[in-house]
Amino acid sequence: MMAPWSYSGSAMVQTTRIMPLDDEAIAEATLLLLAGEPVAVPTETVYGLAADATNADAVAGIYAAKGRPSFNPLIVHVPNLEAAERIGRFDRQARELALQYWPGPLTLVVPLRADAGIASIVTAGLPTIALRVPAHAAMQALLNACDRPLAAPSANASGQISPTRASHVLASLGGRIPLVIDGGATQRGIESTIVAATDGSLRLLRRGPIDIAGAKQLTSKAIEAPGQLVSHYAPRKPLRLDATEANTGEFLIGFGPVKGTETLSERGDPVEAAAHLFDLLHQADAAPYERIAVAPIPGDGIAAAIRDRLKRAAAPRS
Ligand code: TXA
Ligand code: MG
Repeated sequence: MMAPWSYSGSAMVQTTRIMPLDDEAIAEATLLLLAGEPVAVPTETVYGLAADATNADAVAGIYAAKGRPSFNPLIVHVPNLEAAERIGRFDRQARELALQYWPGPLTLVVPLRADAGIASIVTAGLPTIALRVPAHAAMQALLNACDRPLAAPSANASGQISPTRASHVLASLGGRIPLVIDGGATQRGIESTIVAATDGSLRLLRRGPIDIAGAKQLTSKAIEAPGQLVSHYAPRKPLRLDATEANTGEFLIGFGPVKGTETLSERGDPVEAAAHLFDLLHQADAAPYERIAVAPIPGDGIAAAIRDRLKRAAAPRS
């Protein structure tokens, strides 16, 4: 029996269940999603907070739980390219990227079809939509069981570090959502690469696990990807970059030759580092140290994506 204050759509105090990923969890999550409730679910990048993208009230529940500014559009997850093409218009370049990288950690922003049935709160009224076919078995199982597109931003309160474990979700959103599906630590550890294919060219809106050679980096149009807000992925403590040793009171996150209090990757592998990044930021934030320092992460591709997130995490809060 549900407590009377945990009614649908409310972000008021409620009991948050954690269920290990299995058929029972998928069945329970499907019931909740079809009833308009948000559910936290692992993907290969980070844990997402999913809701039915065709139901405006359900999507409002995501914003309520996260405390997210409502101008931020959300990524919509679909099971395959065919489902994506029913929602967005794919030009040749977008389709090529989809065929090459889906299912996987790539989000494509394409023109939205008027008759797609997506609640306008999902796109914050934009004429474009961010679409992704995730590779993770949990999200795939949910998409197939629900048989509808699922909007899912990262499953953390707005401005906090993205969750790569069910325990991170619980620490950030516990009491605000009904269910977390626990699929263990996520494989990639940072959010999907976002590429816009809206005007015949490709533009990189967010760096991520996939390196897109032909996409030009977009720097100034912040409104197009509010995920580019300067202070985003933020720990509570001050963060110092490019540290080769710890100062007094610092938890040093190491990489390669910089050993650190803990290390992102002892062998200096940026892929391994990405998978551990948010996990270690969470750990450093919770540890009995006043400040956090991070070793240099040299290199292109995913190393640049890690530096991008660290720069935002280090930016002063306004
Ligand atoms: O890996 C991921 O992408 C994770 C997992 C859960 O799939 N999701 C995620 O969603 O990171 P979120 O909501 O935290 O990030 C969405 C990003 C934001 O930067 C948002 O501004 C951008 O996508 N976005 C969404 N729709 C857009 C649109 N129509 N045009 C431009 N940017 C858009
Ligand atoms: Mg996020």
